[in-house]
Amino acid sequence: MAALREVGVGVVGLGWMGRLHCSSYQRIPARFPELGLRPRLRVVADPSAAAQGAALEQFEAQRAVDDAAAVFSDPSVAAVSICSPNFLHRGLALAAAEAGKPFWIEKPMGVDAAQSREIHDAARAAGVATAVGFNYRHAPAVEHIRALVREGRLGRITNVRCRMDADYAASPDGPLTWRYDRERAGAGVIADLLSHGSDLVQYVTGQAITEVSATTDVLIRDRPIPTSTGVGHGSVEVGDERGPVGNEDWVAALATLDGGAHATLESSRVARGHRSDYVLEVFGTEGSARWTFTRMNEFEVMIGDGGLEHGYTTVFAGAGHGDYGRFQPGPGIPMSFDDLKAIECAQFLAGVVGDAGDGGLGDGVTGDGAGGLGVGAGALVAPTTADGLAAAEITDAIVRSAASRSWVEVPQVDGTTRAM
Ligand SMILES: NC(=O)c1ccc[n+]([C@@H]2O[C@H](COP(=O)([O-])OP(=O)(O)OC[C@H]3O[C@@H](n4cnc5c(N)ncnc54)[C@H](O)[C@@H]3O)[C@@H](O)[C@H]2O)c1
Repeated sequence: MAALREVGVGVVGLGWMGRLHCSSYQRIPARFPELGLRPRLRVVADPSAAAQGAALEQFEAQRAVDDAAAVFSDPSVAAVSICSPNFLHRGLALAAAEAGKPFWIEKPMGVDAAQSREIHDAARAAGVATAVGFNYRHAPAVEHIRALVREGRLGRITNVRCRMDADYAASPDGPLTWRYDRERAGAGVIADLLSHGSDLVQYVTGQAITEVSATTDVLIRDRPIPTSTGVGHGSVEVGDERGPVGNEDWVAALATLDGGAHATLESSRVARGHRSDYVLEVFGTEGSARWTFTRMNEFEVMIGDGGLEHGYTTVFAGAGHGDYGRFQPGPGIPMSFDDLKAIECAQFLAGVVGDAGDGGLGDGVTGDGAGGLGVGAGALVAPTTADGLAAAEITDAIVRSAASRSWVEVPQVDGTTRAM
């Protein structure tokens, strides 16, 4: 067996997502051996000394720094993860593109469509591979429902329902972090959670959302102002003073798709009891299928006329559904959220090293083997900045629709992966 090629990677932001990107890189040799890659964490960046120390120790990062600039200027870094708070994404992504570094960026890509377009344009101009954190796409059950749609097994797709409900913001005493600020986070739950839903609807149907009619609300109007900084949703101290919430807690939208289907989308970050309840239902003239993240490893399907047994069949994910077989040996053994991120990581790296075949990645990739991978064409395709921009355009159109109380057109983006 040929020696694995080392790929130098850098990670910016070491909170929940940054740490998950770090561990995903480490899982690549065992879960995606055909890539022939061994990612090496060359440098990580975060202002938190504790986060830096943990990355050095737990993920064997070679270097930890305060300033992300050191990641982009390091010649041993062939690919970068951008896992900072949203308001830093634009600057970091533009710096990555300028340095010619492929990047895997968390969603929402920019805080709005304008920023997301800048990021997408910069990546295209630099010709670097990209990936965006739309991880729910990679659930084997979701991939299989998509395959059913593509094979026509559900008939003509008539309508889709997507609901992304969580309660991470349900307490009115949760701190007023950057997530509640329009300038720093974007359009609240629309950018944070519903962007995953918009992407899922487009990815599974292969159809683009062309217009939306939406209503939104801020259900918890003020929150206590933090008196310290921290990571995550709640790990900061607060005082008695409260400040206004600047972005949306709840959204409901109707959407039209370019293949003739309709969609309903709803999302809340204050839905008490719904911990992470992300639901996708696809209806066609011949059948329908549904999936919910809280039961990620199964889906329900009904095709044709079941006679007296008419109704949904519950199918447990197994080999043959998406990438399940890489993670578990037999059906019904649960995969985890982290596995979805490992899949995304592999898709990103396939793009990165695929690019090396054409342009070369300098010192960042070392070892045996020519550029290009023995990966089947299209087998490992990450959501890219085109998909990040497409979701951002839907987010912005929803905001405009809610403000004008009217149907609003969604600007279309070329080169998305939904039809690949
Ligand atoms: N794909 C998903 O399902 C998913 C889930 C959660 C979060 N996210 C996204 O990931 C991003 C990060 O979210 P999180 O939950 O990991 O946040 P977090 O609060 O857990 O971590 C953010 C980290 O960024 C660091 N940071 C702040 N300023 C920085 C700077 N200038 N340079 C480098 N690092 C800096 C903080 O110290 C912290 O460690 C957000 O864009 C969020 O929307 C995506």
